[in-house]
Amino acid sequence: MPRVYGVTIRKGGQGKSTTVATLARLCALYGARTLVIDLAQPGSCAASLRDIWPDADHGTLSSVMLALRDWPAGQLPDLEAARAALNAASLPARLVSQPSWDSGAIAVLPWDDTLGDAAAFLRSELTLRALVTALSDESDIVLIDFPAETGPLMTTALSATDSVLLPLAPEAPALEGVAATLRMLARVREAGHPIELGGILITHAEIRNKRLIEVAQALRKAGEIEGESLQRKLLPFAIHANEYFEQAFRYGQPVWERTNAQRDWAGYVLLTEWLLRDAGLAHLAANRRGPAMLRPETRVIDTTTLLFNQTEPMLVDFERAHTH
Ligand SMILES: Nc1ncnc2c1ncn2[C@@H]1O[C@H](COP(=O)(O)OP(=O)(O)O)[C@@H](O)[C@H]1O
Ligand SMILES: [Mg+2]
Repeated sequence: MPRVYGVTIRKGGQGKSTTVATLARLCALYGARTLVIDLAQPGSCAASLRDIWPDADHGTLSSVMLALRDWPAGQLPDLEAARAALNAASLPARLVSQPSWDSGAIAVLPWDDTLGDAAAFLRSELTLRALVTALSDESDIVLIDFPAETGPLMTTALSATDSVLLPLAPEAPALEGVAATLRMLARVREAGHPIELGGILITHAEIRNKRLIEVAQALRKAGEIEGESLQRKLLPFAIHANEYFEQAFRYGQPVWERTNAQRDWAGYVLLTEWLLRDAGLAHLAANRRGPAMLRPETRVIDTTTLLFNQTEPMLVDFERAHTH
């Protein structure tokens, strides 16, 4: 089974959709067959991937889920039925493969505006898990852009997720969103599903922003919340704040088509390699190429030294400090 990552935080505008869309492009570039499931209104992932979106028509993810709605609670819907429902809707949408991707690919189960209602009709909370399982032969890794609101769609998404990535913009009151998300994960675990917190990713990071230092400090001091050490889960790299993410979204292009400064997307390259290793795809993590071929002197943000040293180390020094 491919490992399933849910990108979620109980708070909007933190960089969920940007993270999923950018990771999908980079995972494919490294050679991973990547399945994106977009459950977040209003379908920003599809919009972000516009330059490679196929012309072919497809049905809705809602119709696929509804085709499995009679499966009883607590049971994984039949995989043949799941495959048939996907085929009937011509899903997942297969994005236009790029020459640089080698054997990588992106397939998408896209958002549609009846998903929330459709999920409310499902009896089995394992419906999405069944769709992922039905596609496991053709996926190496799965990324879910989570809905913002709690409810049946969120429950379905949580049941399909192995590990959670929590994006966090340094703004007040950042830790509330983190605590709410961790409480939700604790409830899922109590209900018997072993979901993990994979990592906390600081997005919109600006080294001279005092809020960034405060948030890093707060995460260090928070100790354990719901059995998770926030300090240990804070990823050592962060995503730079810059206007090009907004532009990339507006034009439906990758961020590296909008800017030549590698520091603008370097955090996502480091995140991709972390993710591939975590997903058991370490052999792919060495495939740096194209926009992932960062120069050794590229400046990166190191969240572990931020509190003592407000400068951005060079990638070569960052990597020396963080590989054991
Ligand atoms: N690192 C970043 N720096 C600056 N702006 C960003 C960054 N990441 C995302 N954005 C912008 O911030 C807004 C919210 O990001 P988005 O990914 O849509 O968040 P979410 O999906 O969590 O609501 C979007 O306009 C996006 O283009
Ligand atoms: Mg979003």
